[in-house]
Amino acid sequence: MNSPFVMVIFGATGDLARHKLFPALFSLYKQKRLPENFYIIGFARRVFSDDDFRSLIGEQLKTDSPEYAEFAKNVYYEQGLFDEKNGYEKLIERLNKFDEKVGACIMRLFYLATPPDNYDAILDHLLSTKLSEGCGQGSSKWTKLVIEKPFGKDLETAQELDRRLAEIFEEKQIFRVDHYLGKETVQNMLAFRFANGIFDPIWSSKYIDHVQITFAEKKGVAGRGKFFDGVGILRDVAQNHLMQLIATVAMEQPKSFMKEDVRDARAKAIHAIKYIEPSDVSSRVVRGQYAGYHDEKDVMKDSTTETFVAMKLEVDTPRFSGVPFYVRAGKHMPKDTVEISIVFIQTCHILFKEYGCPEEGNVLTIRIQPDEGITLRMIAKKPFDSAHGKPGLALTTVNMGFNYSDEFGGKGADAYEKILTDIFSGDQTLFNRSDELESSWEFITKILKGWSEVQNSSRFNREKIKNYNEGEWGPKEATELIEKDGRKWIG
Ligand code: BG6
Repeated sequence: MNSPFVMVIFGATGDLARHKLFPALFSLYKQKRLPENFYIIGFARRVFSDDDFRSLIGEQLKTDSPEYAEFAKNVYYEQGLFDEKNGYEKLIERLNKFDEKVGACIMRLFYLATPPDNYDAILDHLLSTKLSEGCGQGSSKWTKLVIEKPFGKDLETAQELDRRLAEIFEEKQIFRVDHYLGKETVQNMLAFRFANGIFDPIWSSKYIDHVQITFAEKKGVAGRGKFFDGVGILRDVAQNHLMQLIATVAMEQPKSFMKEDVRDARAKAIHAIKYIEPSDVSSRVVRGQYAGYHDEKDVMKDSTTETFVAMKLEVDTPRFSGVPFYVRAGKHMPKDTVEISIVFIQTCHILFKEYGCPEEGNVLTIRIQPDEGITLRMIAKKPFDSAHGKPGLALTTVNMGFNYSDEFGGKGADAYEKILTDIFSGDQTLFNRSDELESSWEFITKILKGWSEVQNSSRFNREKIKNYNEGEWGPKEATELIEKDGRKWIG
């Protein structure tokens, strides 16, 4: 990692910069994984001097160590409004000075870490001031644009945003972030599935009964009411993180691990997710809102924004045809957990029937976080206990497991460290391509349409958003969604 870079973080005083970007940058610095010449410019509305901003970041990182003081020398601040030219002009002066100092055109990264309603204004100004063209404003294309989710509000706005990006940047300059792709446990799915030849033959409807994915957070909207209320959990995590988790399970082996082959395989899997038509939304998608949501700061008192969603879907590929995927995501759940369970068809052999097969059979659970690891639940014979046991055969279930902390002494790099490192080196493998996003928005937009049809109809009173209490796994309808098929949520 030797090429100098300057990263401009738009929205540098916001949540993402505070909780993810600066911690990851400082961690990379401590690991000596940043180049000798790097510059970070925070760009936001509030007024700070460079030094004040450095102190603010230090406080947020809870450090005043000498190492932080060294790191902070590379951090600057530029005050500006996203929709006013002035700030961008000051930015150009600052960027030119860095180029002069290094004596070359430094790679420029523009990181859009703002709420999405600012994207248009920022893109307009990057274009009109020619900042988008890089060093010398016109002489080079040596820039990259990093854009965070939510990428649009529905299919139409996502396509519109994509068109706008394509007018200004080439595809190789655009990094659309879904930080779940940067998680070690998500990346490991490729190795797990395709480096271990034993799984491929059983990874199909012939052996798999169904798949479950749970994305649960104990916290509520945690001070992000303003952002969340306009978005909801469907757009906030289902459109992106959940779709990517489904893709890791459903995708076929990529032709190679080259960027476009991996992205092709992911895109095909997402494209194969069968739409839930608006008319089926009421029976296949459950939306819930935790009790007390209306009292959260910056949330509308009559908000119908969902904080929980559960759905049953199918991936229409030869491998998975007919295998239901039950997925759920929610805030204020009983625990923090993101996991995927592959539930195999219960085949406890006829020979064992008279001894009692355990109700549940083989389940492979991939714990994305926390307690990162993989467990395979198996049926085993209970050891004979001469004092209490009856002679004969008794069966039970046991777990065979691997966890990151035992094997590797930790869970590996933080997702944003991986994401940033790949941006610096220009590797787009773990970033969304527009066709992946388009497919996932097509799927999600049908659900949004179904909800808005219900909302505007007389059925709304009967089918309106369901409440659940903090610490519950969503409304009871989420349990019914799976139980009516004779199955149960795991965990
Ligand atoms: C973000 C969502 O993309 O992912 C948040 O906007 C959510 O609502 C977060 O809390 C979860 O990320 P992680 O890495 O903490 O699991």
